Amino acid sequence: MIEIKNLKKYYGDTLTINDVSLQIESGEIFAIVGHSGAGKSTLLRCINGLEDYQEGSLKVFGKEISQIKGDELRRFRKDIGMIFQHFALMNRKTVFENVATPLRFWGFDGAYINKKVNELLSLVGLENKLKSYPNELSGGQKQRVAIARALALEPKILLSDEATSALDPNTTKGVLELLTRINKELGISVVLVTHEMEVVKSVASRALLLEHGKIIGCGSIEELFLKPDLKMKEFLGEEEILPESGINIRLYFPKEVAQHSIITHMARTLNVDFNIVWGKLEKLNDHVLGNLVINIEEEDKEKVLDYISKSGVLWEVA
Ligand SMILES: Nc1ncnc2c1ncn2[C@@H]1O[C@H](COP(=O)(O)OP(=O)(O)O)[C@@H](O)[C@H]1O
Ligand SMILES: [Mg+2]
Repeated sequence: MIEIKNLKKYYGDTLTINDVSLQIESGEIFAIVGHSGAGKSTLLRCINGLEDYQEGSLKVFGKEISQIKGDELRRFRKDIGMIFQHFALMNRKTVFENVATPLRFWGFDGAYINKKVNELLSLVGLENKLKSYPNELSGGQKQRVAIARALALEPKILLSDEATSALDPNTTKGVLELLTRINKELGISVVLVTHEMEVVKSVASRALLLEHGKIIGCGSIEELFLKPDLKMKEFLGEEEILPESGINIRLYFPKEVAQHSIITHMARTLNVDFNIVWGKLEKLNDHVLGNLVINIEEEDKEKVLDYISKSGVLWEVA
């Protein structure tokens, strides 16, 4: 659905998007993650044709964005909704009028607009706020209005640029649940840009890590968080110091086995001692996945690895 190949974008002499290639499939929730200034918003704006690029290819629905002009660009943008950190609502217009604006722009008749806006506002849980003005709403409610507006023209893709970054954790959760529901129930693909790992973990199926305009990681959420490579660890700010004596074994608990007490059971069965060096449990979407480093005696290595191999846990000697 979105196909990016060796994309380069410059602002003046500065290379802001540096050789980015990626593919986003229809129906998924895809996250673009990175620190401030990484180029996330720029990449997102390239996707909906708000920003040009100098090299490489960027196709959406099979069309090269740089080739789309004029009226065709207007129609193309209709298929892409967008929401922002600071909502971008019109403060002098009511909630109803904010959501109705794109429909009026496209010349829909009053009866359709009335029906559509009411449907959208009930979808986002604001059916009783039609006549309110944005400054009478909380941050979460404002973002819901912005989401309703972004969906007014029935887009196929929703782009979200830090949509929850100005919201408190609880409100964030509600907005993310809404985005997930929109993705599942309406089949709208979501590309979300964020600097918050928690956001990525709770809703995305795949993610791209961007640093100084370059991809430093891309993959399924499970891969990225459960088996982070060096770059990803740096990004997450995780540092592990491993003991120098004994054998360090890194264990990955896939979702089928995450909550079983395999290690304590092993220790009892084999009558070996172990130390936990490092560990974490991650809640990714609806699954809990675990990552653990244990330290054992050299002499127990063989039987421990044999036991672990049979248990369904993935492992490597660290
Ligand atoms: N319109 C612009 N003109 C010049 N430089 C820009 C412009 N927009 C963004 N930049 C620069 O491009 C880099 C990436 O910005 P941005 O895409 O906004 O990053 P992010 O969204 O990841 O925080 C930054 O260094 C920023 O200063
Ligand atoms: Mg940004």
